[in-house]
Amino acid sequence: YVIGVDLGTSSVKALLVDQWGSVCGEASSAYPLIQQHSGWSEQDPEVWVERTIDALHALVTASGVQGDAVKGISFSGQMHGLVLLDEDHQVIRNAILWNDTRTSAECRRIEERLGERLLATAKNRALEGFTLPKLLWVQHNEPDHFARAKTFLLPKDYLRFRLTGNIAMEPSDAAGTILFDVANRRWSDEVVAAFDLPRHLCPPIVDSDACVGTLLPEVAARIGLAATVRVFAGGADNACGAIGAGILSQGQTMCSMGTSGVILHHEQDGSADYQGKLHFFNHAQPRAFYSMGVTLAAGYSLTWFRDTFVPNEAYDDLLARARRVPPGAEGLLFAPYLVGERTPYADANIRGSFIGVDASHTLDAFARAVVEGITFSLRDAIEILRGRGRRIERIVSIGGGAKSDTWLQIQADIFNSEVVRLHSEQGPAFGAAMIAAVGCEWYPTLEACARVFLKEKTSVHPIPENVRTYQALYHIYREIYESTRRMNE
Ligand code: XUL
Repeated sequence: YVIGVDLGTSSVKALLVDQWGSVCGEASSAYPLIQQHSGWSEQDPEVWVERTIDALHALVTASGVQGDAVKGISFSGQMHGLVLLDEDHQVIRNAILWNDTRTSAECRRIEERLGERLLATAKNRALEGFTLPKLLWVQHNEPDHFARAKTFLLPKDYLRFRLTGNIAMEPSDAAGTILFDVANRRWSDEVVAAFDLPRHLCPPIVDSDACVGTLLPEVAARIGLAATVRVFAGGADNACGAIGAGILSQGQTMCSMGTSGVILHHEQDGSADYQGKLHFFNHAQPRAFYSMGVTLAAGYSLTWFRDTFVPNEAYDDLLARARRVPPGAEGLLFAPYLVGERTPYADANIRGSFIGVDASHTLDAFARAVVEGITFSLRDAIEILRGRGRRIERIVSIGGGAKSDTWLQIQADIFNSEVVRLHSEQGPAFGAAMIAAVGCEWYPTLEACARVFLKEKTSVHPIPENVRTYQALYHIYREIYESTRRMNE
């Protein structure tokens, strides 16, 4: 067996997977966000460690697996979170998470100082969620903490350090710091020097599939595993989600609907230039990359709609409402900018809207408009890719949006692409398990592992009439942003 661990934002999930890719056990454990001020979002790294050990112990106990039958463990995790360690490797302050937005001033400073040079090296613009702005916030606002800092780590790298005693980071998460020279897979001396950051803050980089050690004996004993189990570095949650969806060769594309929504496109080389309109990160597959567009309120828009207008209704019932209304939602259009938007606008201040409301519209039409509006916002990322000559003809759909036949067809029609759903989809923890399976040399490559571990279940094709309807609406959808942003000026 191997174990894949995903250290998420609200909980940690561990999967026990056998050599043929069957999931033989699952355990998870939740933890809270600490939100002391509006826009702040923190967690206590010690809690991650304790909850992960709890989940692993529960997994091993419930599945009845012999401790020495588990051969490898690897990790996926929430990206960008800043964990600061002192010279004794003690945590200095709570981790500042990816969804913390306190760093707008730092982002402006970074853009002013580096501008296009940041794009050339780090391949991304400075956004509040990324790690460098968080480091600069601590440098400026908590100088005592900053002075004590010897190393910084990202969430899953800290967790792995506590389980093995070895400090390391790997490229797919390092890329999300924007301190990383993405194409050359090393820290960018230029960016580090531009902000007077001591070079010792940046930990050693190892490959995502590298073996970084074995479990510490006391940790192995608490979990019920042998201390010989090998630990592999792993990857960022988006990278591991992509591995778990089989996004492993040039041009393959994934649509993931979670709280936020993601369009992720595999890139074989590091030369692509989206001028910061898409994120561009190292993949956790050796030597590969991916570009990615993010809509902040995807599943969150549906949750907001439900909680506000039809409390306690099941998601299946919400989607049944959407199914009863024809494509185009009877002229009702929704823009899902409830908490701002990342792609393509990187605008934290924009807010959402319904337009075209008619006295005859029912809750069903509103439900359909919400699902369509979320999908239109992801079409924006697909437009950028197609505008750069990328062919998007087949998309693997994962997350909440893949569970509903109605939403899968809406994706196919709005994206104008075949959309496929996998047989059993387990998210980033499964991608981490695949990294461990390759690390254990069960398979020579992730592609070979995917051929055994992943099976497609459903394929949906676009319906030409619906594609035409949505094409016309999409042009109007695009105008909503320009027309409504002035409301915030
Ligand atoms: C990606 C991002 C989120 C986190 C969520 O840039 O901020 O998807 O990785 O865990």
